Amino acid sequence: MNWYKIAEIKNTLEPFIKKVKAGNRSICLVGFEGKIYATAINCPHAGFDLSQGLCVKGKIVCPYHRYTYNLTTGKGGEGQNDFLETYAVDIRGDDIYVGINSFWDKVRQAFK
Ligand code: FES
Repeated sequence: MNWYKIAEIKNTLEPFIKKVKAGNRSICLVGFEGKIYATAINCPHAGFDLSQGLCVKGKIVCPYHRYTYNLTTGKGGEGQNDFLETYAVDIRGDDIYVGINSFWDKVRQAFK
């Protein structure tokens, strides 16, 4: 897993949803009820930018068709049968780090 320091925002207790860069990858960073979550930027349904969405009861809501995804597990709402990729978050002082598995990390984990 590679860890990336998020340059665009510092750790905060304020709620937010923001598109940020983790290395070369755009991701969606969410501050919700004092915790930070990181997810893929594109909605699994039709690819809309989730940083334009909102958070309700621990779920990110896509602004386009209102599909929902659990911020911790990425599991889609009832009846959706899909998942949103989520990433590890580590808070180091005021800095936010996001951990992203490479393709080969995922392959290695699949064969453990
Ligand atoms: S694009 Fe997100 S719900 Fe359809």
